[in-house]
Amino acid sequence: MADSPGDRILVTGALGQIGSDLVSRLREVYGQNSVIATDVQDQGDFPAPFLHLDVLDRDSLRQIISHYSIRTIYNLAAILSAHGEKDPDLCERVNLGGLQNVLDASREYGCRVFSPSSIAVFGPDSRPIARQASSLNPTTIYGVTKKKGEEMMLRYWENYGVNARGIRYPGLLSWKTVPTGGTTDYAVEVFNEIQAKGEYTFYVREDTRLPMMMMEDAIRATLMLMEAPSQGLSQWRAGYNVRGLTFSAIELATMIVAKKPGVEMRYVPDDRQKIADSWPEDLDDSPAKQEWGWRSTYDLEKMVDVMLAGFA
Ligand SMILES: NC(=O)c1ccc[n+]([C@@H]2O[C@H](COP(=O)([O-])OP(=O)(O)OC[C@H]3O[C@@H](n4cnc5c(N)ncnc54)[C@H](O)[C@@H]3O)[C@@H](O)[C@H]2O)c1
Repeated sequence: MADSPGDRILVTGALGQIGSDLVSRLREVYGQNSVIATDVQDQGDFPAPFLHLDVLDRDSLRQIISHYSIRTIYNLAAILSAHGEKDPDLCERVNLGGLQNVLDASREYGCRVFSPSSIAVFGPDSRPIARQASSLNPTTIYGVTKKKGEEMMLRYWENYGVNARGIRYPGLLSWKTVPTGGTTDYAVEVFNEIQAKGEYTFYVREDTRLPMMMMEDAIRATLMLMEAPSQGLSQWRAGYNVRGLTFSAIELATMIVAKKPGVEMRYVPDDRQKIADSWPEDLDDSPAKQEWGWRSTYDLEKMVDVMLAGFA
């Protein structure tokens, strides 16, 4: 199997926060018609080619892979952290059942797989800085599905040679889409709301510090990992730590106010605070740096400048 993504690429969960950016980047690199976007939601105005696909529907998944000669699958279909805690059964079915369907079909058709993990694999014992080899003791259902997902991908690689790879994404920041259902959504919502109302109420305490990453960096990391030669990847291939930047809610608010005087910020923690408190504040990403050359390109000020300009 080639070490660069092959002819046709399938993206599941393409209408989500990452999918919308990843699909357009993949189409720039590999050609518009080489990337088949799919989701369980309706297409809306998402650019073709697009197909309806529920990752729990094994037969439709196989038919699409076979019909379109798919060689690489980016499996983004998932139920995120805040939503997952409210509907744990759906979270397990989609995040683990969907991944298993993708891996089984990839084993059959010889596809390469990218399926994201998350910093949610870590529990409170990993604070403040989660290392690549820190123990994984997640306290959320979502985190448990991500931990088991990494283990499943590694098993399919070791036992069946399925070339599966993953990244433990931090909270992702993009001005193109406002995320929903995650715990780190406040770091994007704040830009949207101050633009509309001149104020924002954080749903976490002001000292809440979490690892974050600009979407542009996340997409770059994803393509770098997928282009890396397989023999250079270690046992971390299913879930590399990647560091972008880290900041507390008040550091973010202070930087925004410095750029946009007069906006008002408040802090009223809700049930997402508990999830935030269970995650690390920062990451060590030495294996990603050493094995496939990962480097982040953003600091807090650059991120705030880009987000303010994007939402203006
Ligand atoms: N956004 C982040 O900050 C972040 C951080 C860490 C990890 N991740 C991971 O990255 C991946 C993508 O995240 P996202 O932010 O784009 O999520 P999102 O919630 O924005 O998008 C997920 C997409 O999956 C689709 N979906 C849900 N159930 C489906 C099903 N049964 N079949 C097909 N599609 C289905 C949804 O319709 C949605 O379009 C997920 O695995 C997520 O856990 C995201």
